[in-house]
Amino acid sequence: MTDTRHPIAVLCSGSGTNLQAIIEAAEDPAYGARVAVVVTDRPGVRALERAEQAGIPTEVVPWPGREHRRAFTKAVVAAIEAHAAETVVLAGFLRILTEEAIERFPDAILNIHPSLLPAFPGTVHAVADAVAHGVKLSGVTVHYVDRGVDTGPIIYQEPVPVLADDTAETLHARIQRVEHRVYPDVIEMHTTGRLRVEGRRVVWIEPEVAP
Ligand code: GRF
Repeated sequence: MTDTRHPIAVLCSGSGTNLQAIIEAAEDPAYGARVAVVVTDRPGVRALERAEQAGIPTEVVPWPGREHRRAFTKAVVAAIEAHAAETVVLAGFLRILTEEAIERFPDAILNIHPSLLPAFPGTVHAVADAVAHGVKLSGVTVHYVDRGVDTGPIIYQEPVPVLADDTAETLHARIQRVEHRVYPDVIEMHTTGRLRVEGRRVVWIEPEVAP
């Protein structure tokens, strides 16, 4: 039978534990999205193995260096289009795409970030920066991607406490447990049309309740 659920592309650069959580959520036929393709910027990463194990098509678009960011974005968009994905889910994707991707998928690129934005943005050091700063509370942010880095409209946030003896590793592990629980749900809110972007604010639209 054809799977008519909303097709998403998941973009990863590494271990893909969030991808795994999404794959497992989508195993339920009632879940409101299916993973049409997994795209990575490097071969041999664990995320690719996870996709292959789940029978999901994969595309590797090797990172060509900063000076070719535009060509890289074009190739990533082409890989997504080749699998007719309508929403782009960044899950530990370490590359910044250019505005061509945002124009092609307006309000349809989601990212998960391991801090309470706008605190501690950036692709690599967010958790270590939070520990170094001595904050008592960090967390998880899911947001739409705009032209900036981690600046787009916020969909969902959840706090995670920072404990006195935390290292970046122990805090990240605690944050990731939250990520794995929330990201599939937030993605589904988007793919089932329950989110509306109004300027910087994302409005949650309540699902219709059966009489
Ligand atoms: C996550 O912690 C996410 O917040 C950040 O990158 C990490 C990816 O981890 N953007 P994984 O590849 O999903 O295990």
